[in-house]
Amino acid sequence: MTNRIVVVSNRVAPVNEGKAAAGGLAVAVLAALRRSGGVWFGWSGEVVAVPDETIRITESGRLSRATLDLSERDYEEYYNRFANATLWPLFHYRVDLVNFDRRTYAGYRRVNADFARKLTGVLRPDDLIWVHDYHLIPLGEELRRLGVRNRIGFFLHTPLPPRELLATLPVHGELMRCFSFFDLVGFQTETDRGHLLDYLVREADARVEEREGGAAVRAFRRTFRVEAHPIGIDTRHVERSAARTENSREVERLQASLGGRRLIIGVDRLDYTKGLPQRFEAFAHLLRAYPRNLNRVSLMQIAPPTRGGVPEYTEIRRTLEELAGHVNGALADFDWVPIRYLNKSFSRRTLFGFLRLAQVGLVTPLRDGMNLVAMEYLAAQRPEDPGVLMLSRFAGATQSLPDALIVNPYDVEGVAKAIQAALTMPLEERRERWRESMHVLRSNSVEVWHRRFVTRLSEA
Ligand code: F6P
Repeated sequence: MTNRIVVVSNRVAPVNEGKAAAGGLAVAVLAALRRSGGVWFGWSGEVVAVPDETIRITESGRLSRATLDLSERDYEEYYNRFANATLWPLFHYRVDLVNFDRRTYAGYRRVNADFARKLTGVLRPDDLIWVHDYHLIPLGEELRRLGVRNRIGFFLHTPLPPRELLATLPVHGELMRCFSFFDLVGFQTETDRGHLLDYLVREADARVEEREGGAAVRAFRRTFRVEAHPIGIDTRHVERSAARTENSREVERLQASLGGRRLIIGVDRLDYTKGLPQRFEAFAHLLRAYPRNLNRVSLMQIAPPTRGGVPEYTEIRRTLEELAGHVNGALADFDWVPIRYLNKSFSRRTLFGFLRLAQVGLVTPLRDGMNLVAMEYLAAQRPEDPGVLMLSRFAGATQSLPDALIVNPYDVEGVAKAIQAALTMPLEERRERWRESMHVLRSNSVEVWHRRFVTRLSEA
């Protein structure tokens, strides 16, 4: 008999695909759990004056969603501040944006302890517990404190920066020690995995033994495994869904609005890690340096706003509005707008249809754990006439997709040049690059990732 899987993440996404799920984690967890069944435990997304003590359980097929609400104080201290204004910038190498405060760290620990207490109410002795992302690093320790002896795995969806950056966090020692309470700690890339190992060796005197599939680590008087398990997408689902959506009303409207012009697309949560200002600058540079693109190419940037309670997000939104307005004001014509900038989300089906229509997919984050949009862009293409994926060298996805056009997002002129190369790339080369990349995506789907992690956890 296989063990039941209990996934724990900060936010539990709705089960229907109608609205676009915000971020790769929700998409991946949902795709994987739908097949295997199990429990998904976490925040409902609701903030209330006094949260209920009881967990809300809703069943959908073989998947149960177990959700709790957050109080205003928890939402502020745990979600807005420590998770998203301290750990998020730190883990994306933006030490300049880190706001550290011991009070919000205490709030983060308090919510983790509360998650652990409430989770014990739904646990069975043989459940495999799989914790996701930076919001819940202390959850393993809190569960152990309550006497939970189940196997517990952890997967970080974001990057983990090098030791020298981690060490800028005043509570780095306490936080990094939390990893030792899991049986298996998984990362998106070998780079991230290496950063934890280097930290543990140098700061915590860890003993590391490299074995097949990852490292066995002895530190803080505990033994645990540290491995890289790059995430994937539900490749076949995206391929089929994009093909089916080709004739949908939205896709036809988009096509008609282009009037035969070419489309470059970007789809990102509105986040300062995504390199959107640099992307707009690069596109403007393309139009100036290669003026034959004027009135012939449009960039459509879909960027649904998130984390509006964090000041840096309000700031990046303002920057982008100004920049898009500036570029459009300077370069638009009476029948053409260079940048279509949309602060809204679309259903995933519609998005796949839009991705299929675009000759170039721009995925140019300044730092990204993996980036599933890059993979979705590839899977959405027409095999006989695929577009070109441009990928930042700082996205985790680049480590497994060397056939994309790899760029440095800080190099505005270099990105403009690469866009021009993508727009003029011969069909044979496009097909060749696409075929190689699809081979990777098909052999490492989200299902494979899920199964591999769960197997490793049950063996740990
Ligand atoms: O790893 C990226 C991540 O932080 C996920 O944990 C989360 O599901 C997603 O981005 C969206 O973020 P938020 O829930 O803060 O809107």
